[in-house]
Amino acid sequence: MTKVLIVYATDYGNTQKMAEVVASGATSVPGIEVEVKFAEDVTEDDVIASDAVIVGSPVHMGSPDWRVKKFIDQVCGPLWIKDSLIGKVGAVFATGGGYGNTGGGAELTMLALLNNFAELGMVMVPLPKITPGYPLGGLQWGPYGRSAGEHMEQTGVTEPRLEAAKHHGANVARVAAVLAGKELFAK
Ligand SMILES: Cc1cc2nc3c(=O)[nH]c(=O)nc-3n(C[C@H](O)[C@H](O)[C@H](O)COP(=O)(O)O)c2cc1C
Repeated sequence: MTKVLIVYATDYGNTQKMAEVVASGATSVPGIEVEVKFAEDVTEDDVIASDAVIVGSPVHMGSPDWRVKKFIDQVCGPLWIKDSLIGKVGAVFATGGGYGNTGGGAELTMLALLNNFAELGMVMVPLPKITPGYPLGGLQWGPYGRSAGEHMEQTGVTEPRLEAAKHHGANVARVAAVLAGKELFAK
């Protein structure tokens, strides 16, 4: 079995909902085992046992949620020293209120996490523009769920905005299945 770990933080449920949709996409790929975990509950062993890690964050002040950063620093940081994440597959998604269309920081939030993945030596999976749902719920870095309306009224991430997230989960799972167990990088 190829293992996909989905890590998220949430206050109001939007990022959790998106994590579950990403998980449903990953689960749809044969031979994939999926685990969805709140960022503060993830252990080093969870990460080591995974072939792919997908991290989802709410946009907070234009950057990742502090609990997601805590996961990166406290769980992934020690694994960086041991080179444990090199060659694992990494991907991201985000939700934001979206004031001013994509809002301040959806892209920066995902890029900040992908930057962390690059530090960790992970193989990053983007979101190609051919992905179903991309025009409403996609950025090239990963799916983006806008959780508020034009006047910042809370709409939640609506169904059409979730389609790209489901496909992202499946894309990442397929890449992980192809790469699992392979020695990709020279030492
Ligand atoms: C402290 C804080 C800062 C936020 N900053 C931003 C922001 O910079 N850009 C944005 O689009 N939304 C921002 N939001 C809105 C959240 O990103 C949005 O409501 C998100 O969907 C919440 O995810 P959750 O439901 O998983 O908690 C902020 C929310 C909070 C609580």
